[in-house]
Amino acid sequence: MIITPQLAGNVARSCHPIGCQQALQAQIDYVRAQGAITTPKRVLILGASSGFGLAARVALAFGGGADTYGVSFERGPSEKGVGSAGWYNNCYFRQAAEAAGLKAANTIGDAFSPKVQEKVIADLQADFGQIDMVIYSLATGRRDIPATGESFRSVLKTTGAPVEGNTINLEAQALEWTSIPTATSEEITHTTKVMGGEGWQEWIEALLAADLLAPGAQTLAFSYLGPELSAPVYRFGTIGVAKEHLHATANHLNEQLQQAVGGTAYPVVAKALVTKASVFIPVMSVYLALLMKQMKANGTHEGCIEQCYRLFATKGAGQQPVLDEDRQLRLDDYELAPSLQAEIAKIYPTINGDNFKALTDFDGYLHDFMALNGFDLAGVDYSAEVDMTEMAALKP
Ligand code: NAD
Ligand code: NA
Repeated sequence: MIITPQLAGNVARSCHPIGCQQALQAQIDYVRAQGAITTPKRVLILGASSGFGLAARVALAFGGGADTYGVSFERGPSEKGVGSAGWYNNCYFRQAAEAAGLKAANTIGDAFSPKVQEKVIADLQADFGQIDMVIYSLATGRRDIPATGESFRSVLKTTGAPVEGNTINLEAQALEWTSIPTATSEEITHTTKVMGGEGWQEWIEALLAADLLAPGAQTLAFSYLGPELSAPVYRFGTIGVAKEHLHATANHLNEQLQQAVGGTAYPVVAKALVTKASVFIPVMSVYLALLMKQMKANGTHEGCIEQCYRLFATKGAGQQPVLDEDRQLRLDDYELAPSLQAEIAKIYPTINGDNFKALTDFDGYLHDFMALNGFDLAGVDYSAEVDMTEMAALKP
């Protein structure tokens, strides 16, 4: 079949498997071109199929020769559709890693589910042995707890006074004036249940109980803080409260791991990037498109793979992590450079529906979003038939 992009608002309803393979290969090529790095050798990645989790996996495997076990929530091809980009990322990652002589296992399922956790632990015991690093990179709107029947949904709202601002609608290629309401305390609790540190804590405790963490094991979770400009929606938003919980969990886990295996836990504060998850955060999109323009202009622009390579190559993850006074590893150093943020703060208020394509890197933003789903990539023949029988035979 011939696969075309289908956008509904900020949601991609299709993906191009061949494009996904090419986008993954570009990440692998980037890491190989940068050169070998020292990384942990056996790594479990929760949220391995896209965004930061996938980029970390590529840096670990193709930079450091790591064996990786990935958990993600994705959809394969069926009568209903082509499946999700993350599905193909998993399949093609495994192929490439195995071709390079590395182990690359995947489990597709809900990382919050005790059944999935049990399966992963059994697999690790059978095939991997003790793990040197656990990466927590889940981005989701929902967490179900089968034992109690509870189901939590995260919301993207503010905890202060309601905020108004522009947001990018990718389908319409237009700005939309949105207002972000104040969350109820229940909504804040629910968002924290989903995007805070509880899931991370459960995994580390289960791995410790199964004696699956090697001496000196490290665990990191991706996080974001952002500048003053986005604070009303991010830092002081429901997601920011959840991240605070995640950071508190890091300190707690750090003590637990120190005692149990001489290990370490820390949050990695990354830069803002276009991913499947981030385009949903109201108002952030305009900031992000402007950030991309300014960082490209001053030569500090990075994508997930550049960030994740730097995480291991220069920030010491897995070795001696470089942490700030709050025990956070900062990959947002270029984003938060004061001169850059001053420039952004000047331009941001002047952006409107007529000038946003010129004042921001809207084209780059749209390209990055399309590329997440395998579209808009040079060198892919989008008029060619994709053999869905072949695609259905791929294994994650
Ligand atoms: P993403 O959507 O690209 O990746 C999310 C991953 O989580 C995918 O692999 C998905 O399959 C997996 N996942 C979701 N729900 C799951 C479930 N129930 N069980 C198993 N796997 C599940 O998102 P991302 O942007 O890479 O986000 C990862 C982390 O990085 C998040 O904590 C996010 O807050 C953080 N972060 C993102 C940005 C950004 O700008 N995108 C910046 C800094 C930090
Ligand atoms: Na991820």
